[in-house]
Formats: sequence, structure tokens, C-alpha cells
Amino acid sequence: MEKDLAGKTALVTGASRGLGVHMATRLAAAGALVGVNYASDEAAASETVRRIEEAGGQAFAVQTKLDGEAAAQQLAERLEKELTARTGSNGLDILVNNIGGGDYGPIVNANEEFYDQMFTNNVRGPFFLTRALYDRINDFGRIINISSVGARLTDPNIIVYTMAKAAVDAFTRVLAQDIGKRGITVNSVAPGFTAGPTNDYIVNDPVAAKQVTDVTALARFGQPEEIADVVHFLASPAGRWVTAQNIEASGGFKL
Ligand SMILES: NC(=O)c1ccc[n+]([C@@H]2O[C@H](COP(=O)([O-])OP(=O)(O)OC[C@H]3O[C@@H](n4cnc5c(N)ncnc54)[C@H](OP(=O)(O)O)[C@@H]3O)[C@@H](O)[C@H]2O)c1
Repeated sequence: MEKDLAGKTALVTGASRGLGVHMATRLAAAGALVGVNYASDEAAASETVRRIEEAGGQAFAVQTKLDGEAAAQQLAERLEKELTARTGSNGLDILVNNIGGGDYGPIVNANEEFYDQMFTNNVRGPFFLTRALYDRINDFGRIINISSVGARLTDPNIIVYTMAKAAVDAFTRVLAQDIGKRGITVNSVAPGFTAGPTNDYIVNDPVAAKQVTDVTALARFGQPEEIADVVHFLASPAGRWVTAQNIEASGGFKL
């Protein structure tokens, strides 16, 4: 793979499991030094780092369960320590706000706890982390927010997730305007149904799987590497003129 991120530093949140592992692995394969953030599963985060190093890349694990301002500050400080020790600078080139995720439930079942959980993981966590890192992101850097195809759907069964990811897309557009004068691009990537731990119960259930592939133009599930491809493009020099965009990588889900 072309080392088009050689000399760059990156942080991927939620990279001990799921799509984040593939984003971190891809950015490292392209030459970036990658911070692998996780909430609690140290063994899984270490395994991501081990796989990256085994492939000749550079990475380190950095724990913090993101949920607001204090946690964001903690992660910023831990990241600064790790980056400074390895590069002599605290500058970050690529921030991938990947944590999020959603549960199903219509409005009548969505109590305060459910609502707050969804907005904490998808909006509050990424928002305050970006704020904490705002001055440390290098000029001409990249901010990539992981949204979802769910942001554009009108499925009553994911109403709160749709609202939260729509907020991620709005954050993306406004932040792009705010920070663009520093040459920093801000985009969101919207996966559709992607194979991996989150969706294995659907992928492995022929009836449920068919319900998904029947309404997907490319008639299959996405692979995590296909989401990492888009993240890599946006992070790379080739993505320099793309900002404030929401790029869907769903194989054409419910067009
Ligand atoms: N999977 C899909 O098909 C799909 C589709 C559309 C959109 N997306 C979006 O893509 C992103 C990744 O999805 P995914 O399915 O890969 O997620 P996932 O498997 O649930 O991600 C889990 C990862 O996030 C970490 N994590 C969870 N909460 C955290 C927190 N508060 N602070 C720090 N780390 C936290 C976990 O750490 P521990 O291991 O330590 O718990 C783990 O590394 C999400 O934003 C999701 O909304 C996914």
C-alpha cells in the first residue's frame, strides 16, 4: 500500500472492536502513527496495536470512555503524552470520531436513559473530544466523523439514532466552515449495514439478511475494509479538496 500518510499522526476512537479496528489498521498501513482509543477492553485494544505492529505499522492504545467534557480532556492529555513521547510534538493530523452506535426502538419506548445514551455516544462524546483537540489538530489536518445511513432514513424504529446521527452531520458541516481557514477538512462517513460484531446476528440469519440485501442496490452487506477505504481517502492528500460532505458507504441502502 502507498504510504501516503507517512509522518502523520491519527486518533481513531472506539478502535478496539468493530469498524474502528479496520480504520486504525488502514491508516497505520498507509504510514500514520495511530492512537487506538477504547473504553474498557484493554486486551482487544492491545490486539489491534499488535496486529498493526506485526504488519510493520506504528500504534499505541489509549483508554478513555468518552462521554463529555472531562473524559475528552483526559483523552487529550493522554494522547498528548503518547504523541510527544513518540514524535516530540503533540500535534494531531487526523481525528476519526468513530464511537457511536444505535439501538432499535420507536418513540414510545424511548425513555430518557435510552435517549441520553444514544446522544452521549454519538454526539456528546465526539463533540467534546473535538473541542478538546481543536487547538492541537495541525493545519491541513482532517476530522472524519462516523455517521450512518440511518441519518437519512425515516424508519420509526431508529428515531433517536437518526436524530443523533443527523446532529453529527450538522456538526460536520458547521465545523468545516469554522475550521476550514486552517486548511482542515471535516467530513462525515455514513456506513450502511456492514459485516462485523454489531451486525453478525443479522448477517448470520438468512431471513434477516435477505431483508437487508433486498433493499441494498449492490445486494450484499458492506465489509469493514470498505468503510476504511473511504476514511483513508478522506485522510489522504487525495481528499484535500473535499470538506463539509457526508459520504455514504452503504452499497445504496434504501435508495
Ligand atoms: N456497524 C455498522 O454496520 C454501522 C453502520 C452504520 C454506522 N455505524 C457507525 O460506525 C461507528 C462504529 O460502529 P461499530 O458497529 O463498529 O461499533 P462498535 O462495534 O459498537 O464499537 C465498539 C468500539 O467502540 C468503543 N467504545 C464504545 N463506547 C465508547 C466510549 N464511550 N468511549 C470510547 N470508546 C467507546 C469500544 O471500546 P471497548 O471495546 O473498550 O468497549 C470498541 O472499541 C459508530 O459510530 C456507528 O454508529 C456502524
